[in-house]
Amino acid sequence: MSVLTIDAGTTGVTALVVGEDGRILARGYQEFPQHYPDSGWVEHVPEEIWQATLASCQAALDRTDQTPSCVGITNQRETAVLWNRKRGNSPRRAIVWQDRRTAGICQELRDLGIESRVTRITGLRLDPYFTATKLTWISRHDKRSWSGVESGDTVVGTVDSYIISRLTGGAVHATDASNASRTLLYDIRAGSWSEEMCELFGVPMEALPEVVGSYGSIGETDPEEFLGVRLPVAGIAGDQQAAMFGQNCYEPGSSKCTYGTGSFVLVNTGHEAVDPEHGLLSTVLWQHPDGTRDYALEGAIFVTGAAVQWLRDGLGLLDSAPQSEAMARAVEDSGGVVFVPALTGLGAPDWDPHARGAVFGITRGTTRSHLARATLDAIAFEVRDVAEAMERASGTSLPELRVDGGASANNLLCQIQADQLAVSVARPVVQETTALGAAFLAGLGTGVWSSTEELKRTWRLDHRFEPGPRKETDYQRWRAAVERAKGWAEL
Ligand code: G3P
Repeated sequence: MSVLTIDAGTTGVTALVVGEDGRILARGYQEFPQHYPDSGWVEHVPEEIWQATLASCQAALDRTDQTPSCVGITNQRETAVLWNRKRGNSPRRAIVWQDRRTAGICQELRDLGIESRVTRITGLRLDPYFTATKLTWISRHDKRSWSGVESGDTVVGTVDSYIISRLTGGAVHATDASNASRTLLYDIRAGSWSEEMCELFGVPMEALPEVVGSYGSIGETDPEEFLGVRLPVAGIAGDQQAAMFGQNCYEPGSSKCTYGTGSFVLVNTGHEAVDPEHGLLSTVLWQHPDGTRDYALEGAIFVTGAAVQWLRDGLGLLDSAPQSEAMARAVEDSGGVVFVPALTGLGAPDWDPHARGAVFGITRGTTRSHLARATLDAIAFEVRDVAEAMERASGTSLPELRVDGGASANNLLCQIQADQLAVSVARPVVQETTALGAAFLAGLGTGVWSSTEELKRTWRLDHRFEPGPRKETDYQRWRAAVERAKGWAEL
């Protein structure tokens, strides 16, 4: 038996066919365009996400003779999508999680003195990152699109619910609790949309998807819409929660860091949502078919892998992202260069939508190798910032950190990370754990696997990086640089 899994990420869609032993049997990948219509704005065309979904699934299915028994979906979270309930077409582009245009709306709401109430209900904070203020912005600035939402023809949701709607030919309008918990509209303890939050952000509840469990029976693909294939849709989770599932972080205290566009460190906090402190978020990990939920504390860092991409695409310093390792290894250290990759503001733990990227300490001796090394250092420092916030919040230290995602293949980064955290960093053989987690959820929902114990047996270690010495002055310099990058866009 095998499972088809769709990972609709920020820059492209990956489809995998995963076998019963947790091995990847086939894969397909299709990038889609990013649109930057204004400073700090990031948009996606929903139809381009859907076409990339079809192309990646077709490629994966063409590369295996297995017929998968179900499909799981995981996705970039928070991105706000509008589409026609029946036809699936969208009246406008989606506003992506990285988009900063709603910083003013967040400030307006903060001035009302309601942020602690919002956090108590949703586990989140008033930041442009989350879905709700993006919808408020559309209601104010794109009245034509919003009129469809008010009349009931247009629905709203995150990328998971958009893809489910397209896969099922419009039959199912659903999201799971992990995705709902990223919208600022969902009461994480009650396990339902919050009337109070929907009113605050001006979002009609009837337009929102039904919130369902993260695995079980969700719907069926429509062969006329989806490659002639009829499959049960049996798993959904936001990409970071799916990565926790793929990394077998089922017990309280277990944690992982995924290095994608950004990096996201999550620690499982068990059946109770913890009040988030120290710049962290409290979020649903997954909802079981019996309606119970597990939760996590999350440190969301917006730009890590994207900083390496910027060295490649923005500066032309690299031909490929993996080349950053060899380039950084050419020097002993960053030569005093500190790069703060606040390219879309700062997320956890500093939260400043007005911060912008900055490079400090450049001299005439600075080379591209120093900049490459400073970029890898920055990723490790950012993860250390949130790991220390987690330790302060929980009062215990991380025993180890499981890592995954594209940049976890970078051995130098993993070593710097272990040094900076002073704990060991464990990298599994399968590093595409986001997609793997969605496959596990769908397979658990349909009986391909019978328990999380069985799933645990599929996890195999590739390499463990043990911590070496770290220079505290480097980290202090990093913190000083972060402070200087704050507020830049407001000057
Ligand atoms: O919260 C944003 C996150 O879900 C995006 O993940 O992997 O597309 O960078 P990724």
